[in-house]
Amino acid sequence: MAGMHLDRGADMPLYQQVAAHLRARILDGSLQAGTRLLGSRDMAAELGCSRAIVLAACDLLYAEGYLLSVPRGGVRVAAIARPRAAAPAPDERDAGLRMSDRWKSLLATDYVFDMASPFSTGTPDIAEFPFEIWARLLRQSWHNPLRSACIDMAPLGWQPLREATAEFLGAVRGLLCRPEEVAITPASSGALDLCCRMLLDPGDEVWVEEPGFIEARWSLKAAGAKLVPVPVDEKGMVVAEGIRRAPRAKLAVVTPSHQFPLGVAMGLERRLELLEWASRQGSWIIEDDYNSEIRHRDSMVASLKSLDRAGRVIYLGTFSKVMLPSLRIGYLVASPGFTEAFGRGRARIDVHTAGTAQPALAEFLRQGHLLRYLRRMRKVYGERQDAVVAALRTLMPEQLDVAPTAAGLHLTALFTPRMAARMTDREASARSRQAGQFIQPLSQCYLGEPDRQGLVIGYGRLQAEEAMPRLAAVAARLRD
Ligand SMILES: Cc1ncc(COP(=O)(O)O)c(C=O)c1O
Repeated sequence: MAGMHLDRGADMPLYQQVAAHLRARILDGSLQAGTRLLGSRDMAAELGCSRAIVLAACDLLYAEGYLLSVPRGGVRVAAIARPRAAAPAPDERDAGLRMSDRWKSLLATDYVFDMASPFSTGTPDIAEFPFEIWARLLRQSWHNPLRSACIDMAPLGWQPLREATAEFLGAVRGLLCRPEEVAITPASSGALDLCCRMLLDPGDEVWVEEPGFIEARWSLKAAGAKLVPVPVDEKGMVVAEGIRRAPRAKLAVVTPSHQFPLGVAMGLERRLELLEWASRQGSWIIEDDYNSEIRHRDSMVASLKSLDRAGRVIYLGTFSKVMLPSLRIGYLVASPGFTEAFGRGRARIDVHTAGTAQPALAEFLRQGHLLRYLRRMRKVYGERQDAVVAALRTLMPEQLDVAPTAAGLHLTALFTPRMAARMTDREASARSRQAGQFIQPLSQCYLGEPDRQGLVIGYGRLQAEEAMPRLAAVAARLRD
């Protein structure tokens, strides 16, 4: 029992500690097959524990096949096939993990992000979230829960939540849809991931916005898609260029209400062109309508889905961004046929979106709490965006071109030609990190060579009065 010390303060019971020690010595070959173990009394004396502990450890190892009891021969080590070589150390970058090539390339993507920075994109402020109401609704829904919420949750989600979501989208986005067109999903990323697997075969071409939302590209790549970057100008994705580069693409992924990351809205002509291409080709369009509920001006850009007569648009949205990031509940709206097929796929892959919060969320929507909360937060976020725009215009008028955006929790400040001649946005981002105020570089939203440089600045969690001092610290690093 050399080298064996029992730790009486550990969570692991003593008999399991003894068994783990013997098991390890058998596996590493220091206890050879046929070796006779000490008698249980001697072993217990050597370890300073009771004999019962030693006997329980040996029982476990008999059961696992490491020990044999030989008549009149005592307890002996069994002959087992030991692994020849030690397993390679787990290391994500190690090809020894033998992941698929697609997965390895996904993990190898160079991507800088810092959730802790108040300038990180897509993170809401939760300080004013009505936690008391939320807690009450959770308590109520769990006080006397229905079996259908505990055991038989449907793959497309809790029916009252599908109904409340359809109503919410009518009120907040002017999107008229029926509950049977709505699926409740593990936020919009989860919906996108399953859509990719449903729609794409390896090698299928997909249009993505350039620059665009990097996370969406990861799911597309994981599904084996061939990504076709399509440039974005001040009217959104240049559809004619998509048609020129990949006329038979199977899918286009777009953010038409306010493009990620540039913030522009897609013009009507482009929208009609995109819809026309998709219905002619039988291709799909995923409309990622993230954060459109958080609009800062009165005018609302209608969704692409509301123009879709041919049933080609799959509309994705999320409650995560407007409520609590960890909620991870979103929705998909598509033709009833697609939605039904999506539900069948969901049932096969992971059954349904986690159900414990769905009944409370349905009530939260039905009772109008989300609309009221959004109304309050639009004002807060609007003031934060104004503060960022004002600070950037005061501090870096020569370096950055800043335009307010109509919605969402971030804006993109483009480099002026003068600034672009001095440094890249990756360098500017690294300097912002040195100033303790990490800001994302625009160029990492590109698949190919960036045709613009800039900074993608989130303000969801930035107090308006902090915009000036924090950005002044960044400006000081960017000016020299
Ligand atoms: C453009 C865009 N789409 C989708 C999402 C993801 O939303 P969810 O958290 O619901 O997966 C984000 C998150 O930042 C985003 O920026």
